[in-house]
Amino acid sequence: MSTKVEMEKIVSLSRRRGFIFPSSEIYGGLSSCWDYGPLGVELKRNVKQAWWQAMVQERDDMVGLDASILMHPQVWIASGHVAGFSDPLVECRSCHQRWRSTDLKVTVCPACGGELTEPRQFNLMFKTFMGPTEADADVVYLRPETAQGMFVNFENVLNTTRKRLPFGIAQTGKSFRNEITTGNFIFRSREFEQMEIEFFVKPGTDKRWFEHWVNERFNWYLKLGMKKEHLRLRQHAKDELAHYARDCYDIEYLFPMGWSELEGIANRGDFDLVQHTKFSGKSLDYFDEETKERIVPYIIEPSAGVDRSFLAFLLDAYDEEPDKNETRTVLHFHAALAPYKVAVLPLSKREQLVTQAKKIYADLRPLWMTDYDDTQSIGRRYRRQDEIGTPLCVTIDFQSLEDNQVTIRARDTMEQIRVPINELKTILSAKLSGELLSNQPLWSAK
Ligand code: GAP
Repeated sequence: MSTKVEMEKIVSLSRRRGFIFPSSEIYGGLSSCWDYGPLGVELKRNVKQAWWQAMVQERDDMVGLDASILMHPQVWIASGHVAGFSDPLVECRSCHQRWRSTDLKVTVCPACGGELTEPRQFNLMFKTFMGPTEADADVVYLRPETAQGMFVNFENVLNTTRKRLPFGIAQTGKSFRNEITTGNFIFRSREFEQMEIEFFVKPGTDKRWFEHWVNERFNWYLKLGMKKEHLRLRQHAKDELAHYARDCYDIEYLFPMGWSELEGIANRGDFDLVQHTKFSGKSLDYFDEETKERIVPYIIEPSAGVDRSFLAFLLDAYDEEPDKNETRTVLHFHAALAPYKVAVLPLSKREQLVTQAKKIYADLRPLWMTDYDDTQSIGRRYRRQDEIGTPLCVTIDFQSLEDNQVTIRARDTMEQIRVPINELKTILSAKLSGELLSNQPLWSAK
């Protein structure tokens, strides 16, 4: 298996097969904005669902939230984003292109060689206006992170659930940052989605929980099939820590442009609840039944990007394998992530075969995202499914009409087995969930 794939191949496959399109393409696109196509939307939903299942559904110390994107402007003053969420920006005096000065390795404009201005701070939050006027008083921001929705709802969650410390709130949703430099496909864009957890703990237990979450999150990627040699942990140096963080680890992935952040896990201490108490005037503390004291919980925050995880899973799954005299392109997605779990393929377009195949197709759809294809040769159709990562294909041939059996073909091994139609659902389910539960590659989980 190859270990590193060029970004161009993934961009081209994504475009060709309908994972990702440039936004507003018929108007020439909009810089660093992307639309997820029919396959992309499935993969993206599956990434979020796998995260939700492992982080919320399977844990007894987590609950979910879906906070609004627009929040009270004071939130962003309390959080430090109005004062400090900025990048140093320089502008070329000739071509007026802008650059993040920390990205530059040269002292002149990389585009035209022109002279650069002194750096000035550029706030990354998108501003908009609420109500009919555009007065300063009506300014609201598109949230640059989902995290604040969880901090300001701490008391609401505490009072409406029976959760006691330690417990966490999880949320997925859109965030917006007016990034100066974007690029590397969907790696850094201005509109993106996050999957964030704010885990509230008693002070003094924070180091242990921090360690727990670093491991938990690292293993989540491994369980979903990401190759260990493509993942690493990197601790932030003291001078690199964000203003709120006591400690932080990045989970980095070996992207084509080099090791880059996939997710950050921070120990935020009591920074957030103290700040929101100060600015809102509402106390956000917790009564500790054991010590009979009121305490301000510490927060451990694992913060992941949906789009970055999507890209990493796509890159990691991509492979080109020799196949007779040709090369087959295959996405070795974990079954939980694959856009389609099953494809139904009648061997030919003969009416009897198509009727039988469509019946099976209708039968499987309520259970799994299922594709149907009756065009071109069966070999071509298998390749097409391999290229979009469908783990299992079901082929209906003339023999099927006589013996009521069909062929299941596995993407990874290309192995084929014949099974009775009336057992098809059970066998597909075992094959698919075998991987979901045991994390074993398909077909070895027999
Ligand atoms: N609440 C903490 C926080 O937002 P962050 O390191 O700024 O921390 C967390 O962002 C994650 O969100 C990143 O690890 C990355 O996966 C994703 N992310 C951040 N900015 C992004 C951007 N411009 N485009 C795509 N993903 C981004």
